[in-house]
Amino acid sequence: MTSNWREIMSRGSRKIAVIGAGNVGATCAFVLANMKIADVVLLDIYEGFAKGKALDMSQNANVLNYNGTITGTSNYEDIAGADVVVVTSGFPRQPGMTREDLIGKNAEIVAQVGAGIRDHAPDSVVIVVTNPLDLMTYHMQKVTGFPANRVIGQAGVLDSARMAHFIALELNCAEEDVSPMVLGGHGDTMVPLPRYTTVGGIPITQLMSQDRIDAISARTAGGGGEIVKLLERGSAFYAPGSAAAVMAESVLNNRRRLLPASCLMTGQYGLDDVYIGVPCILGSNGVENIFELELTDDELNSLQTSGNFYKSQLVEILGYN
Ligand code: APR
Repeated sequence: MTSNWREIMSRGSRKIAVIGAGNVGATCAFVLANMKIADVVLLDIYEGFAKGKALDMSQNANVLNYNGTITGTSNYEDIAGADVVVVTSGFPRQPGMTREDLIGKNAEIVAQVGAGIRDHAPDSVVIVVTNPLDLMTYHMQKVTGFPANRVIGQAGVLDSARMAHFIALELNCAEEDVSPMVLGGHGDTMVPLPRYTTVGGIPITQLMSQDRIDAISARTAGGGGEIVKLLERGSAFYAPGSAAAVMAESVLNNRRRLLPASCLMTGQYGLDDVYIGVPCILGSNGVENIFELELTDDELNSLQTSGNFYKSQLVEILGYN
């Protein structure tokens, strides 16, 4: 008998791997552990960093009453059999930087991590969080060679949650009653959609003035930058890590939640061969369905501007054509 009871308990359990044990990765792993849905493997290039965080979280199991295993590693063999892999490895922004400033360094990291996922978790659904998000998700799909439905970018859930928070503050209402929708790229060109954002089923266009909606949309688009400026080192991680965990849960449990996420466009919204945030259903196959909303000319224009911006970056900076 070499196995301990925890190893026996976890046999046959589902597994989520989180690559990058930094701020976003550790938050995501912690939220997943609390969801009690799977064993969590935390992988970082620094083995001790991943192992230390995993051990700290494991020691929290008694306090928070979760049973799944949380292990730390730098060995890709340990992600074998993962149902979902969340990728958070990469540099975060510092004050004064745009997400696009991270392209060069993070593209190399995504290439390395993508190869590890392709070789060791070939059947997984991959959720990318590394910035610049839409570009890194495209890159990940190319590196892994996985079908596009199995490589998804996390941005819309976070951007929508930011918008929801500002709406709840404005209306002094419960956060849970806000049902937000933000599309487009995860950057300055994101497209908050007030017409499709409701509170208790009522579009916000009926609940507040256009001026306030414009102010909230602008604050949402700059939401990440506002936090970078305040932190002075690094970028947001509680909401980004939680947003990725929510997507992973929808995939793992085949919940089929309708969420905005970065998906490969194949003609939808007049965009092709670029990842951009759109409403989709997330289930066990990853992206199960993409919805094409009816948009006004202005809204469609903004979405296409966002998509075309990222497409040009894919060509000019990452060398795709
Ligand atoms: N393989 C595995 N892990 C790596 C690699 C690699 N090749 N390169 C870097 N890492 C790890 C680092 O060791 C670090 O622990 O990625 C982790 C990143 O953590 P942080 O520096 O804390 O960054 P974080 O705030 O978590 O942001 C990560 O998510 O939201 C995005 O813009 C953000 O791109 C950034 C990413």
